[in-house]
This record gives sequence, structure tokens and C-alpha cells, in this order.
Amino acid sequence: MRILVTGGCGFIGSNFVRAMLRDHPEDEITNLDLLTYAGNLENLAEAAADHADRYRFVKGDICDPATVLPLLDWAQAVVHFAAESHVDRSIEDASAFVRTNALGTQVLLDAARRVWGEDRSRRFLYVSTDEVYGALSLDDPRAFAEDWPLDPRSPYSASKAAADHLARSYWHTFGLPVLVTRCCNNYGPYQFPEKLIPLMILNAAAGKELPVYGDGLYVRDWIHVADHCRATDLVLRQGEPGQVYNVGAGAERPNLEVVRAIIRLVAARLGREEDELAKLIRHVSDRPGHDRRYAIDSGKLRSLGFTPSRDFEEGLAQTVDWYLDHPGWCQNVTSGAYQDYYRRMYDGR
Ligand code: NAD
Ligand code: TYD
Repeated sequence: MRILVTGGCGFIGSNFVRAMLRDHPEDEITNLDLLTYAGNLENLAEAAADHADRYRFVKGDICDPATVLPLLDWAQAVVHFAAESHVDRSIEDASAFVRTNALGTQVLLDAARRVWGEDRSRRFLYVSTDEVYGALSLDDPRAFAEDWPLDPRSPYSASKAAADHLARSYWHTFGLPVLVTRCCNNYGPYQFPEKLIPLMILNAAAGKELPVYGDGLYVRDWIHVADHCRATDLVLRQGEPGQVYNVGAGAERPNLEVVRAIIRLVAARLGREEDELAKLIRHVSDRPGHDRRYAIDSGKLRSLGFTPSRDFEEGLAQTVDWYLDHPGWCQNVTSGAYQDYYRRMYDGR
């Protein structure tokens, strides 16, 4: 299969491209990425060198029709990851989120419509998020199911929901073979350290404060990125066009519990006192509009044959090891603009 991956230099996209090149020796991949602050060519340097015959990188913007048209013409399938992905940044300024997430998705969908015509053998997989469902209360026994109404609460999730609606509208209106996945929170190697887990690992290792928003009892449902990639691959090849698939691994955890687990792992790896690291926890002012809890029902995906390959504690330990074993990567992504971001977001909070 010839696959166009958008956003393949980001966290999930780079893990996905690596997994596809490894697991499907017959596939060719083109990775279209604008290399924003979150995109990093280093994430795929080794895979690109090892598979130069069937992997190609194109630097470009998904919002630019002239860039995307020839790539869609080439592709038999699109896996669309490219996005602005961080909730806190969307609260600072939503404009890039609306542009890339909503407008960029519409540009890709229109290009697919134009060059694929009536060819129903092609596939457009839009990578949405469980955040489009809104928030659950802590005592709600339910988890999000695919037929729940969308009720996004942050500028990030609102822009993702706009694209989610658009993608499904192209299936209903034009018959474009669209599939949508809605995954819970990912963790694992190559995640940019603005997100909870890598930020806490790097801060704990450096002896810096661990900024927990509000009471720290907010709950996220976690999946290792490798499992999200396996699920995406499965939906791409075996999912039914027009359908939505939730992706999860059944690992709901309050943030404070995640932070304490990271402290334990970092202390053990670096020979530090756990109690000393725990003193770094700071409850800082809350995120505006903070969603209390996400929980995802992935029964539909499981009926396609999916089972997650690792549990949260095992995956978290491997993730801590990965960050501590890659100081060069961490140093590169946290120099420069990251320092400005960190100051803006956390100084005096
Ligand atoms: P990320 O921020 O790490 O990577 C995003 C990538 O998109 C970067 O490489 C960036 O350069 C690229 N990009 C941004 N704007 C672009 C544009 N205009 N044109 C081309 N490329 C552009 O994000 P991620 O965490 O890897 O998330 C990938 C996708 O998965 C996103 O759509 C996100 O909404 C979705 N998702 C993420 C999670 C999660 O926990 N991280 C969970 C569910 C869904
Ligand atoms: P995040 O990784 O930003 O993912 P999302 O907001 O998309 O779920 O945040 C995960 C949870 O961790 C969320 O409840 C906010 C919280 N959080 C903190 O408490 N401190 C932090 O410094 C960050 C980045 C997040």
C-alpha cells in the first residue's frame, strides 16, 4: 500500500511510521510534515536511512492545496495525524489550532475527493481524540462510546471535533471512504515534554518542581503509543469506511498517581530518595476549563481483534528508561523555544 502519513515527525506519527516500515515491508510511505516546534526529523532519522527505498519525507503544510494534491494522487491511503496537539497552548492562542486542525483537514479531504473521484478502494483515516466527547465526572460509571454526542470543552478539542465532523460529513455527503479513530491519552518514546508524562520525567530527573494542576485528581485513560499505532494499523486495513473506532487500553489513572509512579521509577533508576523527589510536587493553579475525567470504551475495536500489548506500569517503566537513556534527544527538544514556553506556562503559576 502507498500511505501518506501527515504529521509523521511528531510523537505518534513517528512511532507509526517506524512501525509501518518494520511491519509492512511491501508498503511505501510519504511523510508530510511542516516541522513545527513539535515536529522533529531526528525522530525518524534511523528509519529514514534504513528504508530510503520506500520512505520519503516532504516538508509542507497540510493547509496548502498545491502541496497536498499530488501527494493524495499518489496515495492509496492517508493516515492524518498532523495537528496542533497541546491543550494548554490552545488556551493561550487558538488560531493555529483552528487553522491546522479544522482548515487543514478540510483541505486534505477536498484534495482526496478531487483526485480519488469514485475510487472506493482508497482510505482516509482521520486521527481524532477522545477529548471530543467532553468530560466525565469522577463518579460516573460510564466510559465514552462511539455513539456519544460530541461535546468538546477546550479550543484544542473543539478544533479536533470540527475536523471529526467534517471527515464524517465527507463520507455521508460524497461517499469518501473515511474512517475515524478516537484515542485516549498516549505516552511513550518521542513525546514532546510539554505533555504530563515526559515533562514530569525530565523535571524529576533534573530535580525541578513537578507542577500538578489543581488538586491532581483529574483522571486520564492511558495507552502506550505502540498500542495506539497497532490499533491505527488495524483500523486502516480492516475497519469499515464510515465507522468511528474508539482506541483505549483500559488504564484510567489520576494524575497524582501517575506523578508518584514516575517519582518511584526515576528515584530507583537514578539512585535518589523517593521522599526527596516527592517534595518537588507543587500544586499549581488549575488549567481553565480542565476536563475532570476521560474514560474510553474500546469494545468495538476489540471486536476487530485488538488487544493492548502492555499494561500501564510496564509501559511507564519503559518510558522512563527511554527518556533517561536519550539525554541528547531531550537536550535538543528542550533547548531554545521550549525554555520560553516553560517560563510562559509555569513561572509564578
Ligand atoms: P504532536 O504535536 O507530537 O505532532 C504533530 C505533528 O504535526 C508535528 O510533527 C508537526 O510538525 C505536524 N504539523 C503541525 N501542523 C502541521 C501542518 N499545518 N502541516 C503539516 N504538519 C503539521 O502530536 P501527537 O501527540 O503525535 O498527536 C498526533 C495526532 O494524534 C493529533 O492529531 C492528535 O490530535 C491525535 N491524538 C493525540 C493523542 C495524544 O495523547 N498525544 C491522543 C489522541 C489523539
Ligand atoms: P496533557 O498531557 O496536557 O494531556 P491532555 O490535557 O490532552 O489530557 O495533560 C494530562 C493531564 O495532566 C491533564 O489532566 C493536565 C495535567 N497536567 C498537569 O497536572 N501538569 C502539567 O504540567 C501538565 C502538562 C499536565
